Parts: sequence; structure tokens; C-alpha cells
Amino acid sequence: MKIDKIQHSKLDTVDPNNSAFGVNISDHMLICEYKDGEWGEPVIMPYGGLNYSPALMSIHYGQAIFEGMKAYKDKNHDVFLFRPERNFERFNKSAERMAMPQISREIFLEGLYALIDLDRDWIPTKQGTSLYIRPTMYASEEMFSARISNKYTFAIMTSPANSYYDKPLKIKIEDYYTRAVDGGVGFTKCAGNYGASFYPTLLANKAGFDQVIWTDSKEHKYFEESGTMNVMVRIGDILYTPPTSTTILSGVTRNSLISVAKHHNIDVREERISVDDVVRAYKEGTLKEIFGCGTAVVINRYSHVGYKDTIMELPQLTDEESYAAFLKKQLVGIQTNQLEDPFGWRLKIEKQLV
Ligand SMILES: Cc1ncc(COP(=O)(O)O)c(C=O)c1O
Repeated sequence: MKIDKIQHSKLDTVDPNNSAFGVNISDHMLICEYKDGEWGEPVIMPYGGLNYSPALMSIHYGQAIFEGMKAYKDKNHDVFLFRPERNFERFNKSAERMAMPQISREIFLEGLYALIDLDRDWIPTKQGTSLYIRPTMYASEEMFSARISNKYTFAIMTSPANSYYDKPLKIKIEDYYTRAVDGGVGFTKCAGNYGASFYPTLLANKAGFDQVIWTDSKEHKYFEESGTMNVMVRIGDILYTPPTSTTILSGVTRNSLISVAKHHNIDVREERISVDDVVRAYKEGTLKEIFGCGTAVVINRYSHVGYKDTIMELPQLTDEESYAAFLKKQLVGIQTNQLEDPFGWRLKIEKQLV
């Protein structure tokens, strides 16, 4: 792998410990170009613009995918990734569905490790912070035909992140707009899924909600995801989350929380959650918690859930009573090397390049 190091780090003007999410992009990026049916040599180079025209096919036809993952520093300043293999595998699933080329383990994972090692000084150390990692691939042929592109660019960029959305949110159960349809692309991290979700989210914001819970496209009867997170519901002492499908992204956090919950003898079930059951449980007083889970925040608890004309106010559980608080503490502890990792999920990035 070719490495072209930056002359002067931007770290003399950026404080990673006080950096809004996704704004300050670290010194280096990894770039690899695909053409004539094969990937070229990956290069780590100073972060900056690439020279494309507005005829770039990904802009017109949307062959663009990404991943979201994080690197963490512990108190000794050792650096860890969390289950990077799962992001690598999901990236290739997204690529397949979008008729884009598969990427090798060597380019994605070895490239990632080298980049994180090189920019390790960008990883913040304050409680709750991390280095957000954004791998992406997009069609980079420049022409107008609506067909599969012959050229692609794979890139990995990173950016220091505060934990965002950590206050309890007001969420609306969406009963008209749809995020994903059966047989569609909801299970991928393709760019269009996010662009299409902005308008319904904007409407929900205008109505006083922070986010929406997406429901199935046919009947709007079953929970699917919440915002850009998977969703979990606690009724009594049972934790439910919908099974993954072509309409639900298979979240690394979701999968990890299920394992952590089982490990601690929490009854967790991958079953469809109907809006009717949630409303009934609320009326009966057994609806205890609803929360979203994803890499960005790990877990975000909801305080109010709107459905049609009613607002359900969820009980304000203490951290001792809440599954969400307990599970978040366990998972963050594993990710940041503060707790034992019985699952073997943490991957230490050894110092090699710097
Ligand atoms: C639509 C959607 N659902 C769920 C998730 C959660 O996935 P993960 O836990 O892998 O971050 C994400 C990404 O963060 C997402 O974009």
C-alpha cells in the first residue's frame, strides 16, 4: 500500500475532544480506484478533493454506498476497533445489491487498520468520544447513460466524534411515508435511503418530534427501524426487536446488544412488533422502554412516542431500572476496553506506522 503523508497535521487547529460530529475530517484518507474490471493499488494520502465533473454517474443514478464504524482509545491510549469484519461484510452486501464490485478484505480491512494507525492522534479520549470512520464507494465514471458504471472509487475517511443524540428523544410512529419496501434496498447502506428519509423526518421535526419510527410499507402496522437506528421495545421484562429482512439494516449494535442481553439473562426476542401491541401495552402500563440503537450513539432512549393524535409518555426509569442504560454501559465498556470482552469483539490496532 502506498502512503503519502501530510506535511503539516491539521491537529494544531482542531481539538478532537471538542469536535462536532463529522465536521473535522482527519489528515489522511484511503483511496482506491476500480476500472477495467479490477481494483488498483490503495493509496493513503492527505485528505482533500478529487477531480470529478458533475457528470459523475453516482450523482445521477445513485450507485453510492457507505459504512459507519468507530475507533476508540482507552486510558492508556491504546486504540481499538469494534467488530470491523461485520462492517466489511455489510459493505459488500450493499455493493452486491447496488450492482457494484466487491472489495477485498485486504483493501478494506488492511487499508482501514493502516489509516487508523497513521491518524491515531485524531482519536479523542474524553468519555463518550471516538473517531468516526466512514468507508464509502461510489460510481466514478463520467457519462449520462442510465446503466451500471464501469468505474468506482473506494474511500475511507475519519473524523473525531462527540456522542450525538444523547438526550431522550420525542419520536413519531410514521404512518404514511416509507423508508424501505420488500425486495428493495432498505437492508443496504446506499445513499438514497438517507436522502429519501430527510423529508418525512423534516415533517416530523416540524410537528415537534426529533425522529420517526419507520413502519412496514404495506400496512404501517409493524415497527421496522427508528431514524437511522434499529429499534428495541421493552414490554414487561421482555425486550423485542424486529428480525432483519430486506427492509431492515442488520445493525452491528443491534446484533451486539442481543448477545449482551442474552449473556446477562435478559429475555430478548427477535419478533415483529406491532403498533397495536405497543399501544395496548402502554394502556395496560407494561410498556417500559423504547430505544434506538446504532454506532453513532450506541443507544438512544425515547421519552415520548407519538402515534396519530396521541402521545405516549414513557416511564422515566432510573439507570438501575432501565435495560437501555444497562446495555449501553455494558457495550460501551467492551468497546472502550473498560470491561472484559467475552465475545472477542474488540480489535487492538498496534502502532506500526507512526
Ligand atoms: C438505517 C440504519 N439502521 C440501523 C443502523 C445501525 O447500524 P449499526 O449498529 O451497524 O451502526 C444504521 C447505521 O448506523 C442505519 O443507517
